Amino acid sequence: MLSYQHAYHAGNFADVLKHVVLVQVLTYLQKKDKPFCYLDTHAGAGRYRLTVGGVQKNKEYLGGIGKLWQRGDLPDAVASYADLIKQLNPRGHLSDYPGSPSIALRLSGNQDRLFLYELHPSEYRQLNDFFMEDKRCKAFHADGLKDSLGLLPPQERRGVILIDPSYEIKNDYQAVAEALKAMYKRFATGCYLLWCPVVERKRTRYLERALHSSGIGNIQLFELGIAPDSVEFGMTACCMFVVNPPYTLLAGMQNALPWLADVLGELGQGHYRIEQLSK
Ligand SMILES: C[S@@+](CC[C@H](N)C(=O)[O-])C[C@H]1O[C@@H](n2cnc3c(N)ncnc32)[C@H](O)[C@@H]1O
Repeated sequence: MLSYQHAYHAGNFADVLKHVVLVQVLTYLQKKDKPFCYLDTHAGAGRYRLTVGGVQKNKEYLGGIGKLWQRGDLPDAVASYADLIKQLNPRGHLSDYPGSPSIALRLSGNQDRLFLYELHPSEYRQLNDFFMEDKRCKAFHADGLKDSLGLLPPQERRGVILIDPSYEIKNDYQAVAEALKAMYKRFATGCYLLWCPVVERKRTRYLERALHSSGIGNIQLFELGIAPDSVEFGMTACCMFVVNPPYTLLAGMQNALPWLADVLGELGQGHYRIEQLSK
């Protein structure tokens, strides 16, 4: 039984890292006049209202997008992402936040195709209601880790696959590593973005080791933390693993991550890490 609802976390520091990377990758793909395919294995509801009751309780977005979207000193990679947020909130009041499917749709052309998987019934309903009108999108109420494999390789032979589980089940760390290996076997030239929290450092390390020894080439790791690792419950940092990154991504993140750690870190304890996990 899934209980996670992304609305409570939309726009927090983890979404900032994930969506800054996603915007960079999609913007790069858009530059070529050839269609691409976007596959979101864990799509969520697609778009979030930040002003509704439940979200207002914890206001996680205030520690993420809320801290930066109107600043004048944004590094380039963060500025492109913040521009999307400004387009969604033209009155200058932060009330809406795009999920990954909305970001992908905004950065897609007429020929591109989007495949969105979501298992939670009410999240799926919102996702489908929002995206069903657009012929480029297809939403599935299905398991994105298993059932999406049949879509690979896509006919476009160019694609971004975002794997963004909620890690509600401890086995998820193992499951994502296995799923990524299986996807890569079918579509080795795809660009894969895998998000992972740092809640217990040993689980993140497990995933790093599994990917390092997976045989998958060219994996970059980008980590953003707002506090030091802690044994108490809670996410202190998160990582994006990027397989086959565009060559522009590294420089963009080298510029953005120190700034993000500085601006989003709690009590000056922000940190970041960039590693080439495999060549
Ligand atoms: C972190 S949220 C996704 C957020 C979204 N990618 C974004 O960036 O806006 C994870 C979502 O995955 C869904 N989920 C969990 N396991 C799933 C599975 N095996 N297949 C598809 N969706 C799943 C959850 O219900 C939740 O809505």
